[in-house]
Amino acid sequence: MLSQKLIDAINDQIQYEYYSAFIYKAMQAYFEDEDLPGMANWMDIQFQEEVSHAEKMFHFVCDTGGRVLMQAMETPHNDYSSPLEAFEEALRHEQIVTSKINDLMELAQQEKNHAAQIFFQWFVTEQVEEEANASHIIAKLKRVKEDGRGLMMVDQDLAKRVFVPIAGEA
Ligand code: FEO
Repeated sequence: MLSQKLIDAINDQIQYEYYSAFIYKAMQAYFEDEDLPGMANWMDIQFQEEVSHAEKMFHFVCDTGGRVLMQAMETPHNDYSSPLEAFEEALRHEQIVTSKINDLMELAQQEKNHAAQIFFQWFVTEQVEEEANASHIIAKLKRVKEDGRGLMMVDQDLAKRVFVPIAGEA
């Protein structure tokens, strides 16, 4: 059972997870246009992950007797000056997500809602990986700078990423 305050907060986060998916789909489109298929693939997987995060929260609200309310979304950025700029924006975005997840955890703690705390724990852990993934790619892109061959190698590496459904939610 969730308080209305928690339901409202999770509803906002569902919105933000779908918005994250929307941002990454726009980044995928940018990389498709730049003929960087590996980076486009990475963003497509990121899109799928964000949808799965939103769905996990969606089902949690439904399973605990709450009501999900969908909301409108802003237009995401569609253009970037470089791959580095896109991944730096991805990292900035993930840092915002992390702070929102921490706020949700704090609300669950204030309300002594143990089920919600255990549920949010998965997202706390996930955010460590989300930020690390973007940071590692930024480090590689900074190392290759304008070197075309280096960029192609990073692109080939990112082409290997595959979508792994959340355990128990496939
Ligand atoms: Fe759903 Fe990238 O955080």
